[in-house]
Amino acid sequence: MKVLLFGATGMIGQGVLRECLLDPRIDEVRSIVRTSSGTTHPKLTEIVHGDFFDYAAIEDQLTGLDACYFCLGVTSAGLTEEAYHRVTVDLTLAAATVLCRLNPAMTFGYISGAGADSSEQGRIMWARVKGQVENALLRLPFRAVYLFRPGAIRPLHGITSRTRLYRTLYLLLGPFLPLLKAVSPDSLTSTEQLGKAMIHAGLGDLPSGVLEMRDINRL
Ligand SMILES: NC(=O)c1ccc[n+]([C@@H]2O[C@H](COP(=O)([O-])OP(=O)(O)OC[C@H]3O[C@@H](n4cnc5c(N)ncnc54)[C@H](OP(=O)(O)O)[C@@H]3O)[C@@H](O)[C@H]2O)c1
Repeated sequence: MKVLLFGATGMIGQGVLRECLLDPRIDEVRSIVRTSSGTTHPKLTEIVHGDFFDYAAIEDQLTGLDACYFCLGVTSAGLTEEAYHRVTVDLTLAAATVLCRLNPAMTFGYISGAGADSSEQGRIMWARVKGQVENALLRLPFRAVYLFRPGAIRPLHGITSRTRLYRTLYLLLGPFLPLLKAVSPDSLTSTEQLGKAMIHAGLGDLPSGVLEMRDINRL
């Protein structure tokens, strides 16, 4: 399987990249980044790209792909709805629209978040916007679209978030996470489990739809 990864420098993307490089079913990983991560591996090609709203200059590197794992995203904290919408909806759809045109048999996995609002009408801004992008992705002509809604994620294997808020949160919560897992197993996943779930779904055997924490932990 040949896969394309967005957000490989982030916490979730690092976890997905690690699992892709370890998984024998994946022959090739192309990773689109703003700046090179410095990671090298025989299966990995990094595509350093400046404008994540326009892929015309690199379309020839975006063909022949079986799955896309879209782990790029920002926290809504401190952003206006317009600014959050631009990265969450406009940027994601700019990439997804090009990819389904170039790879009609591709599956598309998107990292949303627990509590995303499919009605697009709720009072919580981030949930409404994630609901908008989820619904728009489901309308695109991919082979299948998988909307992952993780809540708390334990970063493993030395992985850290690019977002200070998440870094601080996981530093403070770290010691309590094993207890949380013991008491309420589906309130927590890990970067490893989420990576494995994205790969599993990317094989395309499941119908399109939302994958909540319990689904992520069972895949
Ligand atoms: N971490 C969690 O606990 C958690 C839980 C549920 C949902 N999520 C969601 O999962 C997504 C990723 O979270 P994360 O924790 O992995 O975030 P992260 O560590 O902050 O990483 C964000 C990734 O997105 C890229 N990125 C952000 N804005 C970009 C832009 N304008 N253009 C190009 N690349 C951009 C970053 O690239 P650079 O390295 O170039 O900045 C980085 O690779 C977010 O949507 C988040 O809301 C996270």
